[in-house]
Amino acid sequence: MKKIIVKASVEYPVLIGRGILERLGEEVKQRIRPCKAAIITDTTVEALYAAQAECSLQEAGFTTCRYAYPAGEGSKHIGTLSEILEFLAEAEITRQDIIIALGGGVCGDMAGFAAAVYQRGIRFVQVPTTFLAAVDSSVGGKTAIDLKAGKNMAGAFYQPHLVLCDVDTLDTLPQEVFADGIAETLKYGIIGDAALFGKTASGAYRAELEEIIAACVEMKRDIVMEDEFDNGVRQLLNLGHTLGHAIEKRSGFSITHGHAVAIGMYLIAKAAEERGIAERGLSDVIRDALESNGLPYSVEYSAEEIAEGVLKDKKRRGGEISFVFPVRIGHCEIVKIPVEEVTELVEKALK
Ligand code: NAD
Ligand code: GLY
Repeated sequence: MKKIIVKASVEYPVLIGRGILERLGEEVKQRIRPCKAAIITDTTVEALYAAQAECSLQEAGFTTCRYAYPAGEGSKHIGTLSEILEFLAEAEITRQDIIIALGGGVCGDMAGFAAAVYQRGIRFVQVPTTFLAAVDSSVGGKTAIDLKAGKNMAGAFYQPHLVLCDVDTLDTLPQEVFADGIAETLKYGIIGDAALFGKTASGAYRAELEEIIAACVEMKRDIVMEDEFDNGVRQLLNLGHTLGHAIEKRSGFSITHGHAVAIGMYLIAKAAEERGIAERGLSDVIRDALESNGLPYSVEYSAEEIAEGVLKDKKRRGGEISFVFPVRIGHCEIVKIPVEEVTELVEKALK
């Protein structure tokens, strides 16, 4: 089992290993005295892993209760958050108790936000069960829900007390959902690790999943420890996300987060080449990596349709919006673009 310590406003370990879900109760107990543990999960993950998580927690002395919402991004809204908060109150969860977020990024973001606001904040544990959540969303303390206006528009920075990633749970992921995590892994490679990119691009990582997850988490740990509240270097983690979020939203979430980020990374690489920021041929390298991993790189929407979503992005600051431009594999730069130039940027990216 690998153990990576994140030292942010909360210091916590990220445990990555095979078969470690059965150790959940013991690992939580090492940090938090036995209390009530409210498991928040979705209906798919509930059927697969809730009983095992509950059993482990109960054996370690915790009492458990459970809330499951319908799986998918469509549930990541204020209505579900409100139901979770009412459930916590009805189950008489207090500030001494904990929330266990058992599931993918939607679960972690939503249960984490509930933990941040319920009784002004209770402790929570991330148990990521998608590849995307393992490499990215379970670490770093960004929690959120979507609003009608856009992705992750309401949320909080709120760190977990423990992240426990049982790599065996990824075995039940449908290939399409697994691929969402490949997109985020390629993102880490493009931001700062050419070797990780090469390994992921070639598909030669399945046997080394633990190492790949650990490499991404280590990179995220370093970034979060330098800039927990997203004022600087952490924005690099948004590579492909500004266009990706607009595409995801435009599709009514039929295009998943990871797939939308894949398209966003390719398009922004094309725009970066067009502006002379990126090495020539970089977008082709990224496209090939996406294609060989079964990820998309194009979309039917017009530049105006995508730009409309971009302009509502929460990264907009007055008359400017920050984009992460890839320069070469392993290096990116954050560039502020005036809002008047956004449609033109998207037009060039779509050419
Ligand atoms: P998700 O949580 O909806 O999971 C995707 C699907 O996989 C769901 O249908 C789920 O039921 C299913 N599933 C989960 N684990 C499974 C398993 N082990 N076996 C079989 N099926 C399983 O979505 P996601 O792709 O994990 O996360 C996407 C979300 O994460 C987006 O909302 C995005 O905004 C957010 N995100 C947040 C951060 C952050 O830093 N907080 C970073 C990246 C993405
Ligand atoms: N996934 C982006 C971040 O954590 O900052």
